[in-house]
Amino acid sequence: MEKITVPAIKGRKGKEKISMLTAYDYAFSTIVDTAGIDIILVGDSVGNVMLGYPNTLPVTVEEMIHHTKAVVKGVQRSLVVIDMPFMSYQESIEQARRNAGRMIKESGAECVKLEGGTRMRDVIGALVDIDIPVMGHIGLTPQSVHRMGGYKVQGKGAAEQMLIDDAKAVEEAGAFSVVLEGVPRDLARRITEMLTIPTIGIGAGPDCDGQVLVLHDILGMAGKFRPKFVKTYTNLGELIEKAVKEYVEDVKNGAFPDDSHSFH
Ligand code: KIV
Repeated sequence: MEKITVPAIKGRKGKEKISMLTAYDYAFSTIVDTAGIDIILVGDSVGNVMLGYPNTLPVTVEEMIHHTKAVVKGVQRSLVVIDMPFMSYQESIEQARRNAGRMIKESGAECVKLEGGTRMRDVIGALVDIDIPVMGHIGLTPQSVHRMGGYKVQGKGAAEQMLIDDAKAVEEAGAFSVVLEGVPRDLARRITEMLTIPTIGIGAGPDCDGQVLVLHDILGMAGKFRPKFVKTYTNLGELIEKAVKEYVEDVKNGAFPDDSHSFH
């Protein structure tokens, strides 16, 4: 079993597709790593998925470190990426370096991901300069939800050239890969062909170098709303609810515990 590294991911471009999923705790990271995922992202989606926030904006550096430490303990092979939360890198280069450095030192993750293209060029460059590998994230960037007026596909019409510029800026700044989220299929394909670093799509069609989804979405644990770009592989939410209902019934009617679950 060979550990997946940042250079290994860069080297996959045009050779082998990259698989990536989120995880937020030890129990799931152990399973996801054993199942053979290439990259585990401790996304700031931890806010919506695990902490019940309305969006990713309230997530803190401390929360990211807390969840990532648990994830890292369960991982042997996958590359672990930690998301930089909103306002942990937007203030200044010094702030971005301080927080990224702390997140890498304290969490055990191997690289950071941050949102933004052209506007984040200097920040990405400053982190890469001090040997913190950066995964970019452009297109539908959830931390910009209020500017975008919701979670809307980006890069349509006049915005197409802006997204191409963002992709070039992220690559030129030294990122080792870039997430393309909520981007029309054809534009994602063209950006993928244009860049020398791998693109990892989510809602960006099948022509990227890799694919990322939120773990709880593919497991059917994220409620009734299913975005078009999500494939649900199982309905764990329903299975868990059924199991808990049976347990409640068993306890109420005395079917559990019985003698076989008792010590003598
Ligand atoms: O936080 C997250 O889960 C993400 C992915 C959706 C790319 O950024």
